[in-house]
Amino acid sequence: TGPETVTPTGAPTGAPKQAKGQQGEYLTTSTGLRLYDTDHSLKAGERGPTLLQDHHLREKVMHFDHERIPERVVHARGYGAHGVFIGYGTAGKVSKAAFLGDGVETPVFVRFSTVVGSRGSADTVRDTRGFATKFYTQEGNFDLVGNNIPVFFIQDGIKFPDIIHAAKPHPDREIPQAQSAHDTFWDFVSTHTEATHHVMWQMSDRAVPRSYRTMEGFGVHTFRLVDAEGGTSLAKFHWKPKLGVHSLVWEEAQMISGVDPDFHRRDLADAIESGAYPQWELGIQVFPDTPRQTFEGIDLLDPTKIVPEELAPVQPIGMLTLNRNPMNYFAETEQVAFHVGNLVPGIDVTDDPLVQARLFSYLDTQLTRLAGPNFNQIPVNRPHAPVNDMFRDGFHQHAVHAGVAPYRPNTLDGGNPFDAGPEDRPFVEVAQPLPKAVKIRQAPASFADHFTQPRLFWQSLSPVEKEHLVRAFTFELGKCYEQAIRERELMVLANVDPVLCKEVAQGLGLPAPTATGRPKKVMPSPALSQIGRTWPTD
Ligand code: HEM
Repeated sequence: TGPETVTPTGAPTGAPKQAKGQQGEYLTTSTGLRLYDTDHSLKAGERGPTLLQDHHLREKVMHFDHERIPERVVHARGYGAHGVFIGYGTAGKVSKAAFLGDGVETPVFVRFSTVVGSRGSADTVRDTRGFATKFYTQEGNFDLVGNNIPVFFIQDGIKFPDIIHAAKPHPDREIPQAQSAHDTFWDFVSTHTEATHHVMWQMSDRAVPRSYRTMEGFGVHTFRLVDAEGGTSLAKFHWKPKLGVHSLVWEEAQMISGVDPDFHRRDLADAIESGAYPQWELGIQVFPDTPRQTFEGIDLLDPTKIVPEELAPVQPIGMLTLNRNPMNYFAETEQVAFHVGNLVPGIDVTDDPLVQARLFSYLDTQLTRLAGPNFNQIPVNRPHAPVNDMFRDGFHQHAVHAGVAPYRPNTLDGGNPFDAGPEDRPFVEVAQPLPKAVKIRQAPASFADHFTQPRLFWQSLSPVEKEHLVRAFTFELGKCYEQAIRERELMVLANVDPVLCKEVAQGLGLPAPTATGRPKKVMPSPALSQIGRTWPTD
């Protein structure tokens, strides 16, 4: 019962094949026994206590009691849709990935999300948005698990638990929902200045999108592309919405949060239902794969940096059309499991220390969230390519495997092409030389410039966009309880741009500091660590 196919125009062929959840004309127990009454429990007499022997009562309530699964530890609030991706063939020179070939159609499932809020939170909060795409290619699933902001907060995945702890609600009061409006968030980003670039995007209109349909998407990391001859290039992925990029203004976003917290999911579902299928063009920026992995002085392994499109234009390689709403939110949108390690021949990861940690994290979290190792058998995760993985058993195993020898090669279950020796393999992974290095816990020097690109971002904004950004910083920093944190963030802004800093300081009623001139991390000094927190109990 895999996801269904789509026609050349991208229109769905009809209802997807369903797992056999609800069939037949009458109600039954989960084991198929016909039920005549599901409204009254079995009792000892008309007004007596309920009997333990009422199997139907126990089964019905037992199943209800276990309906919830853990929400995602991040990106819990999301909405998905099915669609089709059609390659232009233009990526052929740099990647042998078959799904990028001219006219090749690949079914996809996309899940948009906010990062910080819980599953029931509002859609229009100020936050980064997830933009995750599962391509069911003939060579296996390829997942492009990106965001609507092209840079990330941190440069090394080992800091991910820390930034998320800082951004999630305070452990004591469990407030607030929005990413940016509290002390721990501003404490973290003002002491980890590599976050500055992301924070600038987050305080901009990009963090209050008007619709999922009007959001850009970015793979963020640099990927390695491999062509048919084994040649490699480095590349960044971009999704460009056909409807253009549009945002809400902050006042609108706040009102909508109250009036219609489901604004974005309603918008997407309604658009698809009415046939107004949203589209995004996929593009790549391509860079030579040099040993230093830099381009025009920009470290391509640093996920807090972009490469300006003026330096490396985005080249279109295919079109995504979303054309079918999920039939069941839980089965599809909730159970979909993306993973940056789901790659196909022709696309590989790089040594970006953020993506390296992600390679571990997604599988690990899904093991708990989807209760066991068989989550790729869930219909929405099932590849459209044949699967012959030799995995066996485990919680929620749905396959009935034939044969007695679950290993290859073997001489018991008959010969087959999977017994081919390594010399016969059609696809050989490109060997990347590993640098000779000692083990260290240190960032490269090229990761140290935290302010040049935030400054470029500020300078690229129109006067209205600048005004919105200043007001966002003022509003969000104004929510901090700790004066010292506001002052420290002003120091960060002073290093980005004096006008930005002055205007935010004015809004906060604080003096504007001058830049330290240090294009590097503001490490928490002993003095800063003296700032005690007594809130909230006194
Ligand atoms: C989930 C993007 C960094 C751990 C997600 C999702 C997106 C995303 C879009 C939601 C997927 C969905 O809709 O189901 C990104 C981007 C990153 C990034 C663009 C940086 C460039 C990280 C890092 C870690 C991490 C560094 C951990 C070290 C997770 C986890 C989930 C998640 C645990 C929940 C997955 C699940 O429960 O299925 N991320 N993420 N992410 N991310 Fe990331």
